[in-house]
Amino acid sequence: MALAAYEAAQRETETILKQAEDATPEDLLGAHGYLFAAPENLAALSGMMKEFYDRCYYPVLGKLEGRPYAQMICAGSDGENAARQTARIATGWRLKEVQPPLIICTHAQTEAEILAEKSINETDLERCHTLGAALGAGLAMGVY
Ligand SMILES: Cc1cc2nc3c(=O)[nH]c(=O)nc-3n(C[C@H](O)[C@H](O)[C@H](O)COP(=O)(O)O)c2cc1C
Repeated sequence: MALAAYEAAQRETETILKQAEDATPEDLLGAHGYLFAAPENLAALSGMMKEFYDRCYYPVLGKLEGRPYAQMICAGSDGENAARQTARIATGWRLKEVQPPLIICTHAQTEAEILAEKSINETDLERCHTLGAALGAGLAMGVY
């Protein structure tokens, strides 16, 4: 999902794809907009994504006001709470939501399905692609 969005955004504007554990406050300060992508685990953001927000929240607080963002959540069947958590953090940062959350459900329900490697179908990958392209184009054109 992140790769599909990244590839589309990159065609529109300079784009950096980073895993949560490698992303830093400097990355946030250096970007003009954001597309946050995370799985939902136990009705919450995954631990690694939460750790990224915990680590970066205060170092950039008050320094990102008004910058555009969007988000993608990968979930087994729900995803709403992880999206809500992301939106609350983004509100704290005073970011501007420029697209509604894109929640993709993999329909993984059993332990075996959840632990298996997922493949996102073409239609859903296209939705990620479209979101990345829209955010990238909006940034390139300065519409935000
Ligand atoms: C510990 C654990 C808890 C999960 N809890 C939820 C949940 O609360 N809601 C949901 O929709 N999916 C839940 N899932 C399913 C994941 O969201 C699903 O596997 C999705 O594909 C996440 O992306 P991943 O496959 O890259 O991990 C959970 C998965 C794990 C491993």
